[in-house]
Amino acid sequence: MKNMIFSYNGFHIFLIFIVNSKWRINKLHLTTVVENISFYQKINLLRRQPEVKPVQIVKSRDMNNSESINIAHLGVNYRTQQALRDVNCIIKPGKLTGIFGPNGAGKSTLMKAMLGLVPKSSGNVLYKSQPLTQQLEKVAYVPQRNQIDWNYPATVWDVVMMGRIKKTGWLRSFSVVSRQIAKESLDRVGMREYSDRPIGELSGGQQQRVFLARALTQQADIFCFDEPFVGIDQKTQSVIFEVFQELTKLNKIVLVVNHDLGESITHFDDLILLNRDLIATGSRQQVLTEKNLNLAYGGKVIYFAA
Ligand SMILES: Nc1ncnc2c1ncn2[C@@H]1O[C@H](COP(=O)(O)OP(=O)(O)OP(=O)(O)O)[C@@H](O)[C@H]1O
Ligand SMILES: [Mg+2]
Repeated sequence: MKNMIFSYNGFHIFLIFIVNSKWRINKLHLTTVVENISFYQKINLLRRQPEVKPVQIVKSRDMNNSESINIAHLGVNYRTQQALRDVNCIIKPGKLTGIFGPNGAGKSTLMKAMLGLVPKSSGNVLYKSQPLTQQLEKVAYVPQRNQIDWNYPATVWDVVMMGRIKKTGWLRSFSVVSRQIAKESLDRVGMREYSDRPIGELSGGQQQRVFLARALTQQADIFCFDEPFVGIDQKTQSVIFEVFQELTKLNKIVLVVNHDLGESITHFDDLILLNRDLIATGSRQQVLTEKNLNLAYGGKVIYFAA
């Protein structure tokens, strides 16, 4: 399997030097996040698919808001390990929603299962009454840092233009409008002057800003970010939260995996607190109780007022 992947990547790198920049972006798109599934994940997904039992669409009691994402009875197993068990929650538009929980709680797994990046063992995830996995063109997803190949030979501009591929089509040139949207997105996160820089040569915070700009150029309805605040300074964190607030004001769905229970948690409107099971979900004030935090973190958290 590994050889296959290396030769596949090698083939891409070869292509990169002989074809135009559009192709380069397309190919990059494939190996990083086309609908955010890496080649390796796709192969894993295909390989694991036969193990997945067909799931029934079950509607939970509160599934009356079709503009929300409705998660019902969601379970995920990794071989023998159960990573998520019977998770039920609603993610509303116009609210900044955080997924919280200790390391290994299943936060990334929840986001990936919602987007079909790992197979579910039970349950369903609906948006506008249809499976979310059938509407991935409406989703912008930025995975956890350690899942991105930062050595891939792409510039900041390449990465941001990836956000326009779905709307442009694979064989067509990017329109003036697409380029303008990309420029504005880079401006919004203060990264326009870095357009020609290789993505791998930026700091962690700059890389997060670029991926945020790429998400903005997608003009999606649903934004999913996995740990966007890891290893970044206060200024970048403020920029990212400002953009999140703007998106929620536009009534977008904004879902963010985070682990920091410090002051930054007050930016979130709604929370999903996980530790394999769903511990609590609802408004920040409802979720942040001493009891819930103890259940999630095993009594290692000092309670503070929400
Ligand atoms: N591909 C995989 N194969 C097998 N087990 C996995 C896989 N991915 C995650 N796990 C396991 O599933 C559990 C949940 O992992 P997940 O990455 O979702 O946790 P997390 O809450 O995002 O953790 P972190 O805060 O460290 O990012 C963990 O015990 C992890 O070891
Ligand atoms: Mg994670």
